Amino acid sequence: MFRLNNETQIPEIGLGVYKMKAGKEMNDAVKYAYQSGYRLYDTAQMYKNEQALGDALKENKIPREDIFLISKVNNCNQGYEKTISSFKESLQKLQTEYLDAFLVHWPGQDKARMLDTWKAMEHLYKKGKVKSIGVCNFEISQLTYLLEHCEIKPMIDQVEHTPLMHDEKLISFCKENDIQIMAWGPLLRGNLENKKMEEIAEKYNKTTAQLLLRWNIQQGIIPIPKSKNEQRLQQNIDVFDFEITKEDMEELNHMNENHRTSFDPLTFDF
Ligand SMILES: NC(=O)c1ccc[n+]([C@@H]2O[C@H](COP(=O)([O-])OP(=O)(O)OC[C@H]3O[C@@H](n4cnc5c(N)ncnc54)[C@H](OP(=O)(O)O)[C@@H]3O)[C@@H](O)[C@H]2O)c1
Repeated sequence: MFRLNNETQIPEIGLGVYKMKAGKEMNDAVKYAYQSGYRLYDTAQMYKNEQALGDALKENKIPREDIFLISKVNNCNQGYEKTISSFKESLQKLQTEYLDAFLVHWPGQDKARMLDTWKAMEHLYKKGKVKSIGVCNFEISQLTYLLEHCEIKPMIDQVEHTPLMHDEKLISFCKENDIQIMAWGPLLRGNLENKKMEEIAEKYNKTTAQLLLRWNIQQGIIPIPKSKNEQRLQQNIDVFDFEITKEDMEELNHMNENHRTSFDPLTFDF
């Protein structure tokens, strides 16, 4: 377990459910994930599968207190009132009384709107409806602005974080400010063919996927890989029995291409 800045305990790896389909696909993925030991589940209003995840948790009789459940406010629901009303809808769809974390999905370029959204997050946190609050895709300048204006500082920043896309300055900034980094797209969104990574992974008798997940965990960063497949789910959590050497960590770090697979948070607006 890692620890958030409000002392909440959080699992070191989780299951992302972006693009997971309602019904059998979600139900089976949640079943196999839970059986394999996953205790953190990451969805979002934007994924339109909160209801499906809620149904899957119920169908598999997963005790609510066993898991760390995350959702995110959709861009179209930003602003004080809509953040609160959409949060209530998220609770209903997920069939739960509280979330373990609620995150702002994208910062956007409207600072006033972002602060209004954050005020709503603080309100939900104070009410005890959510155990921790945080953001996604926030860069240093956006975190700095939020830290200067907030009452409660974010506990999490969920960002794209792989050997091909990582920002040492952002990681250091978050460490200094006790903000937990969570890595989205940790398996290069499925594009795992990379000779150099394969060679390093082979040294440890691990797959490239396992190497990439371990690379995050070893830095104190929580990866949230998505898989709908029983064997791959098992493989992805089987990453706690090896240690990547300092030299191999450095080699992986040097692969940085600063190539995003999604929007640039400094320009993307909605
Ligand atoms: N906050 C944000 O803005 C943001 C943005 C994007 C994603 N996210 C979150 O992060 C999670 C993960 O990101 P992602 O889903 O985009 O990409 P990802 O986890 O990097 O990659 C998922 C892809 O990898 C495949 N895969 C899984 N395990 C594998 C393995 N061991 N070997 C080979 N292929 C494997 C999956 O296919 P199968 O399912 O067939 O195994 C799927 O196609 C999302 O589900 C979502 O929860 C957040």
